[in-house]
Amino acid sequence: MVPRFFSLTPVASSLRIARPLLGSASSISFLRPSAALSLPPSSLVVRKMSTFKQEPHKLLVIPGPIEVSDDVLYANAYPPLAHTSPEFIPIFGDCIRMIRDVVYTTTGQPFLIAGSGTLGWDQVASNLIEPGENALLLNSGYFGDSFTECLRAYGANVDEIRASFGKAVTQAELEQALKKKAYKLVCFTHVDTSTAVLSDAQMVGETVRRISPNSLVVLDGVCSVASEEIQMDAWAIDVVLTASQKGLGRSSWPQHRCSEPEGPPGSR
Ligand SMILES: Cc1ncc(COP(=O)(O)O)c(C=O)c1O
Repeated sequence: MVPRFFSLTPVASSLRIARPLLGSASSISFLRPSAALSLPPSSLVVRKMSTFKQEPHKLLVIPGPIEVSDDVLYANAYPPLAHTSPEFIPIFGDCIRMIRDVVYTTTGQPFLIAGSGTLGWDQVASNLIEPGENALLLNSGYFGDSFTECLRAYGANVDEIRASFGKAVTQAELEQALKKKAYKLVCFTHVDTSTAVLSDAQMVGETVRRISPNSLVVLDGVCSVASEEIQMDAWAIDVVLTASQKGLGRSSWPQHRCSEPEGPPGSR
C-alpha cells in the first residue's frame, strides 16, 4: 500500500470542530464545556472521546514530532478561551501542576510558552547568563552544538566538553572542568536526539552541586521529558526545558520550562 500523507486539511479539521459544538447537548458532552455554557470551573475537564478517529495518514516514525492520539487531537477541538478569563485559571493551574509532577518538583516554577524547544535554549541564554559570563556545555551530539551556538549568540563565554561519538561526558571530565573554572551555567542535553546518548542527569546535578554550588544546572529535556526519569528536586537540576511534540505526546508547539525559583544554595 502506498503511504499517504496526513490528509486532515484545515478546512476538514474546522468542520469536525464545528459539528459537535453546534450540535445537541449530547454531542457537546464530548468536549470540555465552553465558557459560554457557564458551567463551574470544576467541570472544565477533558471528556473521553470515544468516536473521533483521525484520518489515515503516513505514520510519523521520527523522534519528534510524534504521533498524537485521537483523544489528544480531539481535545484541541475547543473554542478559543481568553487567557484572562476565570475559566482559563483552573486549566492553566492543572497544566502547571501536571508539569511539576512529570519532572518531580514541588518547588520548580513551570513556564508554558508558545514556541518550539529552541525557544527553551533562547530563554536560558537570554535570562540566565550575561555577555562575557562562563557557561560549560556537556556535548554529546548535534543538539549540544546548537545549544552552544545559542548561548554564544547571546555573548556567553562557552567551554564545551565534547564526548566521543556515542558516549556521554564522564564524571571525571566534569569534575576536572569544574575545578579549573567558575561557571554560571552548566548545560547538557539529557538525551541527544542525534546520537540517542542518555546522559546521567543525577550524576551531573550532584557533581555540580558538590564542586560548584553556585552554578545553575540546565537540562535540555526536549527528547527526554516524559520519556526518561527526571528527578528535578532530588538531583539538584535548576532548569528543565522541553517541548510538547515528543514525550509529552501532543502536537507542536507549546514549549515548557521548569525552573527552581531560588536557584542553588548561595547563588543570591
Ligand atoms: C534534544 C533537543 N533539543 C532541542 C531541540 C530543538 O527543539 P525544536 O525542534 O522543537 O525547536 C530538539 C529537537 O529535536 C532536540 O531533540
